[in-house]
Amino acid sequence: MAGTGIFTEILDGDVYKYYSDGEWKNSSSGKSVAIVNPSTRKTQYKVQACTQEEVNKVMEMAKSAQKSWAKTPLWKRAELLHKAAAILKDNKAPIAESLVKEIAKPAKDSVTEVVRSGDLISYCAEEGVRILGEGKFLLSDSFPGNERTKYCLTSKIPLGVVLAIPPFNYPVNLAVSKIAPALIAGNSLVLKPPTQGAVSCLHMVHCFHLAGFPKGLISCITGKGSEIGDFLTMHPAVNCISFTGGDTGISISKKAGMIPLQMELGGKDACIVLEDADLDLVASNIIKGGFSYSGQRCTAVKVVLVMESVADELVEKVKAKVAKLTVGPPEENCDITAVVSESSANFIEGLVMDAKEKGATFCQEYKREGNLIWPLLLDNVRPDMRIAWEEPFGPVLPVLRINSVEEGINHCNASNFGLQGCVFTKDINKAMMISDAMETGTVQINSAPARGPDHFPFQGLKDSGIGSQGVTNSINLMTKVKTTVINLPTPSYSMG
Ligand code: G3H
Repeated sequence: MAGTGIFTEILDGDVYKYYSDGEWKNSSSGKSVAIVNPSTRKTQYKVQACTQEEVNKVMEMAKSAQKSWAKTPLWKRAELLHKAAAILKDNKAPIAESLVKEIAKPAKDSVTEVVRSGDLISYCAEEGVRILGEGKFLLSDSFPGNERTKYCLTSKIPLGVVLAIPPFNYPVNLAVSKIAPALIAGNSLVLKPPTQGAVSCLHMVHCFHLAGFPKGLISCITGKGSEIGDFLTMHPAVNCISFTGGDTGISISKKAGMIPLQMELGGKDACIVLEDADLDLVASNIIKGGFSYSGQRCTAVKVVLVMESVADELVEKVKAKVAKLTVGPPEENCDITAVVSESSANFIEGLVMDAKEKGATFCQEYKREGNLIWPLLLDNVRPDMRIAWEEPFGPVLPVLRINSVEEGINHCNASNFGLQGCVFTKDINKAMMISDAMETGTVQINSAPARGPDHFPFQGLKDSGIGSQGVTNSINLMTKVKTTVINLPTPSYSMG
């Protein structure tokens, strides 16, 4: 159970502690932040409302711990990461339980998130050992006008303090996708979890604590964005920010100083369906892509662009599958569970009502109880409807009928987002041309968008993000290249 067994020390009464200088602490503010269970809409957990002074302290510790960590051999860093991964996987049950309670993720998917995170940490340790253990050797005489008098050695060095801000929908997985690359590369790490998802993150951080990482190297600070949000992201000690979330990322980018940023800020992933597509395959992928975790994934299918000639048949197939989705509590592994908050449910409802007023066809009756919204397919959506462009982050999916492939590509490219997209056709040549034309970071051919497997590059164009993720790219982003040049008094050619 969450907060018990090996996790007892992270809890004081009914408030979870924050993690600083290798210890679990109560904030001097004496205040806490409530975490509301999306299903019950009642307070489930409480976390510390940390202060700006506590942020300063954490940053000071992170700076000094990083200096010795950078001198820790790579194989030792990897060993500790493997240990943390094993502890995390051994304790998947209480962590998954907190995911169920604070973000209403179905129980089975919550366990998958924790296991996937352990695997990601181990993969990152292995990849780090490989790519950080190698550098380049360049010779000067390959550039015009030079003799071979200079040998250039390159290596990758850490940036310093990495600030990691994961979102509510994958609080554990998208935290470790930032923590593990930062640590293997020799950085220290300050984690600011989302409010909903904070308790899962605190449990995950305790696994790193138990693995024996040095004091101050990892910290986890909880609290109100209004109190410590800007303070953290604009803190002079921070050398890199890795953020996943919504629009907030745009304002963080504008305020952050001259530091590398890794940002993933959502998407409006289009699913383009051609006449020759296998419609059963498309329908299954629309269900998986559009409705898993109730549509609360940045890579969810968020608009279907289907050729008019096959639209009726596809809509019927998807409707039949929607009817089979179970709706209810995450504890019972229902497919559709409550969305994360009341404000989120209200926003989704706003998009649905706008589409209704403007004449969209509802394939199911719109139904909502509290934060629970029944899955809804909206057919005959037109470009003048908000839902054609905005990201609902909920179990409602618009279908736009198109008369040409170009119309589909144009709709996709007119979006301010550019995360992923997908195209369904049996013609690989057409698929490749469409993929090239779509202005998105990734195009999936004959499958729904998805970030994983976690070592694949993952990036968004336009407002969807900055930089690329995936294990290798994250390690590279969290390092800098350092060169040392050996200057010889006279040219030297081997075997010359
Ligand atoms: O919500 C954003 C995530 O990066 C999506 O990850 O494709 O594994 O669901 P996923």
